[in-house]
Amino acid sequence: MKPRKELAGPKGYPILGVLPMLRGNTFKFLVETARNFGDIVPLRILMTTAYLLNHPAHVEHVLQKNYRNYRKTPMLGKLRPVLGDGLFMSEGELWTRQRKLIQPSFHKERIDALASRMTDIIQSHLKTWETRAHSGEAFNLSDDTSILTLEIALQTMFSTGLGGDANGFAEAMKIVHDVSSKRIWDITGLGEMMPTKKNRDFKAAVDFLQGVVSRIIDERRAKPAVRDDLLSILMDTRDAETNEAMSDRQLRDEVMTLMLAGHDTTATMVAWALLMLTQHPVHLERMRDEADMVLAGRIPEAGDVKTLDYTRRLIQEVARLRPSFWWFARVAINDDNIAGQPIKAGTTVFISQYLIHTLPNVWDDPEKFDPDRFLPDQISGRSKFAYFPFGAGPRVCIGSGFAMMEMQFALAMIFRRFDLEITSEKAPEFGNLITLRPTKDIFARAKLRLRH
Ligand code: HEM
Repeated sequence: MKPRKELAGPKGYPILGVLPMLRGNTFKFLVETARNFGDIVPLRILMTTAYLLNHPAHVEHVLQKNYRNYRKTPMLGKLRPVLGDGLFMSEGELWTRQRKLIQPSFHKERIDALASRMTDIIQSHLKTWETRAHSGEAFNLSDDTSILTLEIALQTMFSTGLGGDANGFAEAMKIVHDVSSKRIWDITGLGEMMPTKKNRDFKAAVDFLQGVVSRIIDERRAKPAVRDDLLSILMDTRDAETNEAMSDRQLRDEVMTLMLAGHDTTATMVAWALLMLTQHPVHLERMRDEADMVLAGRIPEAGDVKTLDYTRRLIQEVARLRPSFWWFARVAINDDNIAGQPIKAGTTVFISQYLIHTLPNVWDDPEKFDPDRFLPDQISGRSKFAYFPFGAGPRVCIGSGFAMMEMQFALAMIFRRFDLEITSEKAPEFGNLITLRPTKDIFARAKLRLRH
């Protein structure tokens, strides 16, 4: 491999390097860095050098070809109090064993079996939309999609809406997400050791969530019954070689992981989809025409995931421009070389879905909203690693089929009955959180569609 010339990168501050910029406005900093420098950009952070990789071939190298040489960043250790050794956090043998155990729970026929549960929840959730449509009141769309996806997560996981605990669950999930997002850049770890209110709230939220999940597991163990939810499937799963089930502790970590990895990501993407579709009425009408033709007024079923083809492409385009997980970091285990650049063991590499999804030499007019980019002939001309909202390689999202079905159903069912008028800022900036949420919540007014 030809060695690279000395690479150029942003200057940053003495000692701290670019850390203050990353902590300040991560999104703005990474976008500017990618625009101003090459496809491998050195980033000085404290006394080390990390690299921003901005080419589909580099994504393929780290996530697929040489994935064994890359572990998740220790920055994610901030999530360990919440996610424990669940699938998102685990590495090595534990990850391989758990992924093998859990994967069958997310096979297509298992997800298909959850379809009517999803549509029942969406249907009953939309009753609140009717009330709002009658009153004409503007409501917080970001909170609303968060409640909807939490209801779906709870019912498909536990067959229960949690009753009185549901609000506490939603609140605790929000605290955990917001505090973890801030902690990620606290490289020294000092902030989280301080006896602040935020830290106390975080601990209380984690204890509450783990308490609820452990209680449900205990109740199930005490009174086993036939249920067809994800928790039962996970409890019944046995290791093919040892025939052992998961320990209660591992089960709790996996349930917490599935709830947290799946909830905010989907909620954020549905909120962006609602906003973007109201801004692109031509595409919205095409989606409605498809839903009218395919569903002819009935509630969607598992088989419609395939036939609601334009709806899927719309979501793929939303996921291109607003990927809920929009960056991540991996650390090299042994020395490596990426396109001529030596990567020493212990070096961090950053990869951003958003940056790769908007590379001008891959995507024509990258900021233009165009679902037809996902027509088969367009996909076939592109690198598989130019588009990866659900990650790529062996650690690809386990819940992508679940999330796609949920989003297709939610959009088809919402827009069949409602029009939306966005009452807040039309182009909100991105916040500095783990997921690509807007800095300010999106507000909207719902109106009943005249034709239905
Ligand atoms: C729009 C919704 C979603 C998006 C954008 C998304 C995105 C992602 C991405 C990018 C990864 C890879 C992270 C990495 O490689 O570091 C991932 C992993 C994961 N996701 Fe999702 N996800 C979504 C929904 C879900 C749902 C609904 C579930 C569960 C029901 C879920 C469970 C997981 C788990 C357990 C992992 C870790 C997999 C492993 O390392 O083996 N996700 N997700």
